[in-house]
Amino acid sequence: MTSSQATWWQSAVVYQIYPRSFCDADGNGIGDLPGIVSKLDYLQRLGVDVLWLSPMFPSPQDDAGYDISDYTDVDPVFGSLADFDRLLAEVHRRGMKLVLDLVVNHTSDEHPWFQQSRSSKDDPKRDWYFWRGPRPGMAAGAPGAEPTNWGSAFSGSAWEFDEASGEYFLHLFSRKQPDLNWENPRVRSAVYDMMRWWLDRGVDGFRMDVINMISKDPRLPDGAILSGSYGDGSPYYVCGPRIHEFLQEMYAEVFAGRNGQLLTVGEMPGVTVEQARLFTDPERHEVDMVFQFEHVQLDHGVDKFHPKAFRLTDLKASLGRWQAGLAEVGWNSLYWNNHDQPRVVSRFGDDSDRYRVRSATMLATVLHLHRGTPYVYQGEELGMTNAPFASISDFRDIESLNYYAAAMAGEGSGRPVPGDPLEDRTALPGQSGDGGPRPDEGEVLAALRRTSRDNARTPMQWTAGPQAGFSTAEPWIAVNPNHRDINAEAEIDDPDSVFSHYRKLIALRHAHPIVARGDFTMLLPADEQVYAFTRQLDAEQWLVLGNFGASEVPVPLADASDWAAAELVLGNYSEPDASGALSLRPWECRIYRRTVGSG
Ligand code: GLC
Repeated sequence: MTSSQATWWQSAVVYQIYPRSFCDADGNGIGDLPGIVSKLDYLQRLGVDVLWLSPMFPSPQDDAGYDISDYTDVDPVFGSLADFDRLLAEVHRRGMKLVLDLVVNHTSDEHPWFQQSRSSKDDPKRDWYFWRGPRPGMAAGAPGAEPTNWGSAFSGSAWEFDEASGEYFLHLFSRKQPDLNWENPRVRSAVYDMMRWWLDRGVDGFRMDVINMISKDPRLPDGAILSGSYGDGSPYYVCGPRIHEFLQEMYAEVFAGRNGQLLTVGEMPGVTVEQARLFTDPERHEVDMVFQFEHVQLDHGVDKFHPKAFRLTDLKASLGRWQAGLAEVGWNSLYWNNHDQPRVVSRFGDDSDRYRVRSATMLATVLHLHRGTPYVYQGEELGMTNAPFASISDFRDIESLNYYAAAMAGEGSGRPVPGDPLEDRTALPGQSGDGGPRPDEGEVLAALRRTSRDNARTPMQWTAGPQAGFSTAEPWIAVNPNHRDINAEAEIDDPDSVFSHYRKLIALRHAHPIVARGDFTMLLPADEQVYAFTRQLDAEQWLVLGNFGASEVPVPLADASDWAAAELVLGNYSEPDASGALSLRPWECRIYRRTVGSG
């Protein structure tokens, strides 16, 4: 099979649910599975095909559920397995599919596998994780005696010392997320068993958390120190030596020969286009598509907490390269938002009252008309914005809290390499990572307000009422006060709302094969305000235009007058443009259609 052949997910749209923040049915301030069931009609009305659930497994919730202590159950805070079965049945009854989050680069330190592994150096599960002694010649537990100089994604060393055995275990993320040792075939077969268990139960696939980090160079070498105190280990674990072998083995063990239309998507920080072609080439049997990170790092400076100005030309260069790189072989996923990203309308659009709806609908149009499978993150379809966090006590996310603590202590706290996939948490506001003035709390909070993952995690805004209709109790994280204006109830019947626009985009993909499968050509790569591209399938050609700004702008295409006379498929202004010329009003988007000499 080649990617020119149609598969069902090319014309599908996936909707991500973050269960903690979606809908709370039992009134404890935390979203749950029965809450999701109560909103399935809403999702069906939106028109999405697949739901991806962020983790709802038993977890100490150190990293909001991405630290799993039991892979085959439901955390009581979200409900029970019976609730899950009901959710799955109700999803299927509505003709949708359900995909689970597979978090197998690491477990929780409270998972029985790790507890056994930790119990003694001789335990049969000791080798299920990465245990190492101190650096040669150094005393175990002494400062700097960690086995490698790697930093963790959530600040500090990637190694945690275990007093009882005098050894350290590896954790690329929090110290409560020890990394599984995929070199051990028993680990792999236990993971495959678990995956089969869920597929047998009826789930339709997996979104695989940081799956390109499961193969580590077993030598675990030190990383280069470019600044600050930690080395960059990523060359030794991002798309490591056995990654393709492991994913092919997983396919053969778990997915091969199954009837049904499954979906697999690998989250892959640091993946390149060239690697993504290999991962998503259907003939190689690895995954259907990957989440790459380039376009969501374009506004990062030395790290995500040190933003730099966003340039539209960079976005076009990046997304254009991914479109071209996966045109013949492989497949793209398309996303602006997820539970780790700030809200796109606040980031690349304009979340002021004046332009929020226009810019959110323009951004949606540009994204959904690329070639690939679009992902909508809960609330994105309402144009939800970043939140006005006032003090550190308003944040809940471990990455944000650890960053704040390290920054306020004036410590180099993390990984030091610009462009590094997990990114540099070392150079703190007001310092370069190796000393200098202590940061100002206001600056640290400003950085968090702009970038924190909690921006994505405030409760879904269902109504203008108390707690945005999310819960009857005080939620685990505050609702955004703008729910009085921005909420589902106000939007679902408003033809000009962000919700209605997403609905139209999803319907377009379902109705027109060109949206799913047409060739993609980027236009105007040097223009800093107009995003323009064509799609083409046989003799049908579509032009997609987006104005990334609040000023009116001409579209300088050679065949502009021809396009201006073409059929307008969709736009985000209800009043027609009287000028007759091809120019865009503030944050306007348009899709035109014409027939060309057969292509
Ligand atoms: C992924 C998840 C993120 C989590 C991390 C560790 O990047 O999306 O939320 O913190 O992996 O599991």
